[in-house]
Amino acid sequence: MSFDHDLQTAAQLLTQGQLVVIPTETVYGLAANAFNRLAVDRIYVLKKRPRTLPLILHIASIAEAKKYVTEIIEPAQQLMEHFWPGPLTLLLPKSSKVPDYITAGSDQVALRVPRNHKTLKLLKQLDFPLVAPSANPFTYISPTRPEHLHYCYGEATPYILDDGVCDEGIESTIAGFENGQLVIYRLGAVTVETLERDLGCSAIIHSHQTSQVVTPGMHAKHYSPKTQVLLKDIKKIQAMKPSEDDGWITFSEPLNRKNAYFLGAEGLKRAAGRLYETLYELDQKQLSRIVIEELPEFDIGRSLMDRLKRSAVV
Ligand code: TXA
Ligand code: MG
Repeated sequence: MSFDHDLQTAAQLLTQGQLVVIPTETVYGLAANAFNRLAVDRIYVLKKRPRTLPLILHIASIAEAKKYVTEIIEPAQQLMEHFWPGPLTLLLPKSSKVPDYITAGSDQVALRVPRNHKTLKLLKQLDFPLVAPSANPFTYISPTRPEHLHYCYGEATPYILDDGVCDEGIESTIAGFENGQLVIYRLGAVTVETLERDLGCSAIIHSHQTSQVVTPGMHAKHYSPKTQVLLKDIKKIQAMKPSEDDGWITFSEPLNRKNAYFLGAEGLKRAAGRLYETLYELDQKQLSRIVIEELPEFDIGRSLMDRLKRSAVV
Protein backbone atom coordinates (compact mmCIF):
# COMPACT_ATOMS: atom_id res chain seq x y z
CA MET A 1 0.00 0.00 0.00
CA SER A 2 1.53 3.29 -1.04
CA PHE A 3 1.73 6.10 1.48
CA ASP A 4 -1.10 8.10 -0.06
CA HIS A 5 -3.35 5.17 -0.89
CA ASP A 6 -6.33 6.75 0.92
CA LEU A 7 -5.85 10.05 -0.93
CA GLN A 8 -5.75 8.22 -4.25
CA THR A 9 -8.96 6.37 -3.42
CA ALA A 10 -10.68 9.62 -2.38
CA ALA A 11 -9.51 11.42 -5.54
CA GLN A 12 -10.70 8.58 -7.75
CA LEU A 13 -14.16 8.38 -6.15
CA LEU A 14 -14.65 12.15 -6.33
CA THR A 15 -13.57 12.18 -9.98
CA GLN A 16 -16.17 9.46 -10.66
CA GLY A 17 -18.90 11.62 -9.09
CA GLN A 18 -19.10 9.77 -5.77
CA LEU A 19 -19.25 11.35 -2.33
CA VAL A 20 -16.29 11.22 0.05
CA VAL A 21 -16.20 12.23 3.72
CA ILE A 22 -13.26 14.59 4.13
CA PRO A 23 -11.48 15.68 7.31
CA THR A 24 -11.17 19.39 7.99
CA GLU A 25 -9.78 21.25 10.99
CA THR A 26 -13.37 22.11 12.01
CA VAL A 27 -15.65 19.10 11.39
CA TYR A 28 -15.87 16.28 8.82
CA GLY A 29 -17.41 17.37 5.51
CA LEU A 30 -19.44 15.45 2.93
CA ALA A 31 -17.60 16.31 -0.26
CA ALA A 32 -18.48 16.18 -3.96
CA ASN A 33 -17.05 17.57 -7.20
CA ALA A 34 -18.56 21.06 -7.29
CA PHE A 35 -18.87 20.92 -11.09
CA ASN A 36 -20.75 17.63 -11.21
CA ARG A 37 -24.41 18.38 -10.63
CA LEU A 38 -25.40 14.78 -10.04
CA ALA A 39 -22.66 14.37 -7.45
CA VAL A 40 -23.78 17.55 -5.68
CA ASP A 41 -27.36 16.22 -5.70
CA ARG A 42 -26.17 13.13 -3.82
CA ILE A 43 -25.10 15.38 -0.92
CA TYR A 44 -28.62 16.79 -0.57
CA VAL A 45 -30.17 13.33 -0.75
CA LEU A 46 -27.86 11.68 1.80
CA LYS A 47 -28.08 14.58 4.28
CA LYS A 48 -31.81 15.13 3.66
CA ARG A 49 -30.84 18.78 3.31
CA PRO A 50 -33.28 21.27 1.76
CA ARG A 51 -32.13 22.40 -1.70
CA THR A 52 -32.48 26.04 -0.67
CA LEU A 53 -29.33 25.76 1.50
CA PRO A 54 -26.18 26.66 -0.46
CA LEU A 55 -22.83 24.89 -0.11
CA ILE A 56 -19.33 26.13 0.78
CA LEU A 57 -16.80 25.81 -2.03
CA HIS A 58 -13.56 24.30 -0.67
CA ILE A 59 -10.46 25.35 -2.58
CA ALA A 60 -6.68 24.99 -2.21
CA SER A 61 -5.42 28.58 -2.28
CA ILE A 62 -6.08 32.32 -2.50
CA ALA A 63 -5.00 32.18 -6.16
CA GLU A 64 -7.80 29.70 -6.82
CA ALA A 65 -10.34 31.95 -5.07
CA LYS A 66 -9.77 34.58 -7.75
CA LYS A 67 -11.35 32.30 -10.37
CA TYR A 68 -14.61 32.05 -8.47
CA VAL A 69 -15.28 35.66 -7.46
CA THR A 70 -15.72 38.88 -9.41
CA GLU A 71 -13.93 41.08 -6.89
CA ILE A 72 -11.87 40.77 -3.72
CA ILE A 73 -11.97 44.01 -1.75
CA GLU A 74 -8.89 44.92 0.33
CA PRO A 75 -10.15 43.76 3.77
CA ALA A 76 -11.31 40.44 2.28
CA GLN A 77 -7.83 39.95 0.77
CA GLN A 78 -6.32 40.71 4.19
CA LEU A 79 -8.53 38.11 5.90
CA MET A 80 -7.59 35.49 3.29
CA GLU A 81 -3.90 36.20 3.82
CA HIS A 82 -4.17 36.03 7.59
CA PHE A 83 -6.61 33.16 8.08
CA TRP A 84 -6.26 30.79 5.12
CA PRO A 85 -5.75 27.93 5.31
CA GLY A 86 -8.03 27.94 8.35
CA PRO A 87 -11.57 28.02 9.74
CA LEU A 88 -12.80 31.22 8.08
CA THR A 89 -15.31 31.08 5.21
CA LEU A 90 -15.71 34.25 3.13
CA LEU A 91 -18.93 35.16 1.35
CA LEU A 92 -18.02 37.03 -1.85
CA PRO A 93 -19.70 37.96 -5.17
CA LYS A 94 -19.49 34.88 -7.37
CA SER A 95 -18.08 34.68 -10.90
CA SER A 96 -19.86 32.86 -13.72
CA LYS A 97 -17.61 29.82 -13.10
CA VAL A 98 -19.62 29.00 -9.97
CA PRO A 99 -22.75 27.02 -10.84
CA ASP A 100 -26.03 28.38 -9.42
CA TYR A 101 -26.92 24.97 -7.98
CA ILE A 102 -24.09 25.42 -5.43
CA THR A 103 -25.24 28.81 -4.19
CA ALA A 104 -28.97 28.01 -4.28
CA GLY A 105 -29.38 30.80 -6.80
CA SER A 106 -27.56 33.48 -4.76
CA ASP A 107 -25.02 35.75 -6.47
CA GLN A 108 -22.60 35.25 -3.57
CA VAL A 109 -20.37 32.24 -3.06
CA ALA A 110 -18.97 30.98 0.26
CA LEU A 111 -15.26 30.10 -0.11
CA ARG A 112 -12.90 28.38 2.25
CA VAL A 113 -9.37 26.93 2.26
CA PRO A 114 -9.36 24.23 4.94
CA ARG A 115 -6.24 23.63 7.02
CA ASN A 116 -6.32 19.83 7.28
CA HIS A 117 -3.18 18.55 5.55
CA LYS A 118 -4.83 15.53 3.86
CA THR A 119 -7.72 17.54 2.49
CA LEU A 120 -5.42 20.32 1.29
CA LYS A 121 -3.29 17.75 -0.50
CA LEU A 122 -6.43 16.25 -2.04
CA LEU A 123 -7.67 19.67 -3.21
CA LYS A 124 -4.29 20.42 -4.80
CA GLN A 125 -4.35 17.14 -6.65
CA LEU A 126 -7.90 17.49 -8.03
CA ASP A 127 -8.68 19.64 -11.04
CA PHE A 128 -12.02 20.74 -9.55
CA PRO A 129 -13.02 22.34 -6.22
CA LEU A 130 -15.12 20.47 -3.64
CA VAL A 131 -18.42 21.46 -2.11
CA ALA A 132 -18.67 20.10 1.42
CA PRO A 133 -21.32 20.72 4.04
CA SER A 134 -20.76 19.33 7.51
CA ALA A 135 -21.29 15.59 7.09
CA ASN A 136 -24.20 15.23 9.59
CA PRO A 137 -27.79 14.55 8.55
CA PHE A 138 -29.74 17.83 8.36
CA THR A 139 -30.17 19.50 11.82
CA TYR A 140 -28.07 16.84 13.63
CA ILE A 141 -24.69 17.35 15.34
CA SER A 142 -21.67 17.88 13.06
CA PRO A 143 -19.26 14.92 13.12
CA THR A 144 -15.78 15.45 14.53
CA ARG A 145 -14.65 11.79 14.46
CA PRO A 146 -14.97 9.09 11.77
CA GLU A 147 -17.11 6.88 14.04
CA HIS A 148 -19.77 9.60 14.13
CA LEU A 149 -20.33 8.99 10.41
CA HIS A 150 -21.08 5.32 10.95
CA TYR A 151 -23.50 6.26 13.70
CA CYS A 152 -25.30 8.67 11.33
CA TYR A 153 -25.37 6.67 8.11
CA GLY A 154 -24.55 3.04 8.96
CA GLU A 155 -24.07 1.01 5.77
CA ALA A 156 -24.75 4.07 3.62
CA THR A 157 -21.61 5.84 4.95
CA PRO A 158 -19.51 6.98 1.99
CA TYR A 159 -15.75 6.43 1.82
CA ILE A 160 -14.08 8.28 4.71
CA LEU A 161 -10.72 9.95 4.25
CA ASP A 162 -9.79 9.28 7.86
CA ASP A 163 -7.66 11.78 9.73
CA GLY A 164 -8.77 11.11 13.29
CA VAL A 165 -10.25 13.82 15.48
CA CYS A 166 -10.94 17.32 14.07
CA ASP A 167 -8.99 19.79 16.21
CA GLU A 168 -11.25 22.86 16.20
CA GLY A 169 -14.42 20.79 16.64
CA ILE A 170 -16.74 23.66 15.67
CA GLU A 171 -17.57 24.91 12.16
CA SER A 172 -15.82 27.73 10.31
CA THR A 173 -16.87 31.31 10.90
CA ILE A 174 -18.69 32.77 7.87
CA ALA A 175 -17.92 36.44 7.18
CA GLY A 176 -18.47 38.91 4.37
CA PHE A 177 -18.81 42.60 3.66
CA GLU A 178 -21.89 44.79 3.17
CA ASN A 179 -21.15 48.36 2.06
CA GLY A 180 -17.54 47.80 3.10
CA GLN A 181 -18.49 46.74 6.63
CA LEU A 182 -17.52 43.38 8.11
CA VAL A 183 -20.56 41.14 8.67
CA ILE A 184 -20.50 37.80 10.50
CA TYR A 185 -23.10 35.41 9.10
CA ARG A 186 -22.18 32.40 11.23
CA LEU A 187 -20.22 32.45 14.46
CA GLY A 188 -17.52 29.79 14.51
CA ALA A 189 -13.95 28.77 15.19
CA VAL A 190 -12.40 32.19 14.39
CA THR A 191 -13.92 34.54 16.94
CA VAL A 192 -15.56 37.89 16.18
CA GLU A 193 -13.02 39.54 18.49
CA THR A 194 -10.13 38.03 16.50
CA LEU A 195 -11.53 39.32 13.19
CA GLU A 196 -12.23 42.77 14.61
CA ARG A 197 -8.68 43.00 15.96
CA ASP A 198 -7.25 41.86 12.66
CA LEU A 199 -9.10 44.45 10.58
CA GLY A 200 -9.16 47.16 13.26
CA CYS A 201 -12.91 47.65 12.83
CA SER A 202 -16.09 46.45 14.45
CA ALA A 203 -18.27 43.73 12.97
CA ILE A 204 -22.01 43.48 12.56
CA ILE A 205 -23.28 40.10 13.67
CA HIS A 206 -25.86 38.97 11.16
CA SER A 207 -29.46 39.01 12.01
CA HIS A 208 -32.42 39.22 9.69
CA GLN A 209 -32.88 42.85 10.73
CA THR A 210 -29.36 44.04 9.95
CA SER A 211 -28.36 42.14 6.83
CA GLN A 212 -29.29 42.51 3.18
CA VAL A 213 -28.05 39.01 2.46
CA VAL A 214 -30.37 36.12 2.96
CA THR A 215 -28.34 33.43 4.65
CA PRO A 216 -30.33 30.25 4.57
CA GLY A 217 -29.26 27.59 7.00
CA MET A 218 -29.02 29.98 9.90
CA HIS A 219 -32.28 28.48 11.11
CA ALA A 220 -33.06 28.16 14.76
CA LYS A 221 -32.95 24.38 15.20
CA HIS A 222 -29.57 22.91 14.30
CA TYR A 223 -26.68 21.00 15.85
CA SER A 224 -29.34 19.11 17.80
CA PRO A 225 -29.05 15.75 19.50
CA LYS A 226 -32.19 13.60 19.65
CA THR A 227 -32.18 14.04 23.42
CA GLN A 228 -33.70 17.25 24.77
CA VAL A 229 -31.12 19.92 25.68
CA LEU A 230 -31.56 22.44 28.52
CA LEU A 231 -29.27 25.43 29.11
CA LYS A 232 -28.77 26.64 32.69
CA ASP A 233 -26.23 28.64 34.65
CA ILE A 234 -23.89 26.73 36.96
CA LYS A 235 -25.68 27.77 40.15
CA LYS A 236 -28.99 26.40 38.89
CA ILE A 237 -27.30 23.22 37.71
CA GLN A 238 -25.75 22.64 41.12
CA ALA A 239 -29.16 23.09 42.72
CA MET A 240 -30.85 20.57 40.41
CA LYS A 241 -31.59 17.16 41.81
CA PRO A 242 -29.82 14.67 39.51
CA SER A 243 -31.77 11.73 38.18
CA GLU A 244 -30.37 8.52 36.65
CA ASP A 245 -31.28 9.50 33.12
CA ASP A 246 -29.94 13.05 33.08
CA GLY A 247 -26.73 14.00 31.26
CA TRP A 248 -24.60 17.02 32.20
CA ILE A 249 -22.02 19.18 30.44
CA THR A 250 -20.25 21.86 32.43
CA PHE A 251 -17.40 24.23 31.65
CA SER A 252 -16.59 26.07 34.87
CA GLU A 253 -16.44 23.18 37.35
CA PRO A 254 -16.83 19.40 37.41
CA LEU A 255 -19.97 17.77 38.87
CA ASN A 256 -19.79 14.62 40.89
CA ARG A 257 -22.76 12.95 39.14
CA LYS A 258 -23.50 10.13 36.74
CA ASN A 259 -23.21 11.10 33.05
CA ALA A 260 -21.45 14.38 33.91
CA TYR A 261 -18.83 15.69 31.48
CA PHE A 262 -16.53 18.54 32.46
CA LEU A 263 -15.12 20.23 29.36
CA GLY A 264 -13.51 23.30 30.93
CA ALA A 265 -10.26 21.81 32.29
CA GLU A 266 -8.09 23.14 29.44
CA GLY A 267 -9.96 26.33 28.59
CA LEU A 268 -12.93 27.08 26.34
CA LYS A 269 -11.05 26.59 23.08
CA ARG A 270 -10.42 22.95 23.99
CA ALA A 271 -14.00 22.73 25.27
CA ALA A 272 -15.22 23.77 21.80
CA GLY A 273 -13.10 20.96 20.38
CA ARG A 274 -14.84 18.39 22.56
CA LEU A 275 -18.44 19.66 22.58
CA TYR A 276 -19.84 17.75 19.57
CA GLU A 277 -18.14 14.45 20.47
CA THR A 278 -19.58 14.77 23.98
CA LEU A 279 -23.05 15.39 22.54
CA TYR A 280 -22.70 12.31 20.30
CA GLU A 281 -21.67 10.26 23.30
CA LEU A 282 -24.49 11.49 25.53
CA ASP A 283 -27.06 11.12 22.74
CA GLN A 284 -26.25 7.42 22.44
CA LYS A 285 -27.07 6.84 26.12
CA GLN A 286 -30.81 7.40 25.52
CA LEU A 287 -31.14 9.83 28.42
CA SER A 288 -34.24 11.93 29.03
CA ARG A 289 -32.35 15.24 28.84
CA ILE A 290 -28.90 16.82 28.65
CA VAL A 291 -28.35 19.85 30.88
CA ILE A 292 -25.59 22.17 29.64
CA GLU A 293 -23.94 25.10 31.40
CA GLU A 294 -24.48 28.51 29.80
CA LEU A 295 -21.36 30.48 28.90
CA PRO A 296 -20.54 34.19 28.82
CA GLU A 297 -21.15 35.33 25.23
CA PHE A 298 -17.65 36.54 24.47
CA ASP A 299 -14.93 35.23 22.15
CA ILE A 300 -15.24 31.44 21.60
CA GLY A 301 -17.95 31.39 24.33
CA ARG A 302 -20.15 33.37 21.93
CA SER A 303 -19.70 30.78 19.15
CA LEU A 304 -20.35 27.92 21.57
CA MET A 305 -23.50 29.59 22.91
CA ASP A 306 -24.76 30.06 19.34
CA ARG A 307 -24.55 26.28 18.84
CA LEU A 308 -25.90 25.44 22.29
CA LYS A 309 -28.96 27.67 21.89
CA ARG A 310 -29.78 26.06 18.54
CA SER A 311 -29.24 22.57 19.95
CA ALA A 312 -31.74 23.40 22.69
CA VAL A 313 -34.54 24.36 20.27
CA VAL A 314 -37.23 21.67 20.18
O1 TXA B 1 -16.44 24.30 8.97
C1 TXA B 1 -17.17 24.30 7.98
O2 TXA B 1 -17.50 25.33 7.36
C2 TXA B 1 -17.69 22.93 7.50
C3 TXA B 1 -16.50 22.13 6.93
C4 TXA B 1 -16.91 20.78 6.40
O3 TXA B 1 -15.86 22.90 5.94
N1 TXA B 1 -18.74 23.10 6.54
C5 TXA B 1 -19.97 23.54 6.88
O4 TXA B 1 -20.87 23.59 5.82
O5 TXA B 1 -20.26 23.86 8.02
P1 TXA B 1 -22.47 23.62 6.08
O6 TXA B 1 -23.07 23.47 4.72
O7 TXA B 1 -22.85 22.64 7.09
O8 TXA B 1 -22.71 25.07 6.58
C6 TXA B 1 -22.48 26.14 5.69
C7 TXA B 1 -23.41 27.27 5.94
C8 TXA B 1 -24.87 26.92 5.65
O9 TXA B 1 -25.66 27.45 6.69
C9 TXA B 1 -25.16 27.61 4.33
O10 TXA B 1 -26.50 28.02 4.22
C10 TXA B 1 -24.21 28.80 4.38
O11 TXA B 1 -23.06 28.30 5.02
N2 TXA B 1 -23.82 29.20 3.01
C11 TXA B 1 -23.10 28.50 2.12
N3 TXA B 1 -23.03 29.15 0.95
C12 TXA B 1 -23.69 30.31 1.10
C13 TXA B 1 -24.03 31.41 0.24
N4 TXA B 1 -23.61 31.44 -1.03
N5 TXA B 1 -24.77 32.41 0.75
C14 TXA B 1 -25.21 32.38 2.02
N6 TXA B 1 -24.96 31.36 2.88
C15 TXA B 1 -24.22 30.34 2.43
MG1 MG C 1 -23.76 22.07 8.79
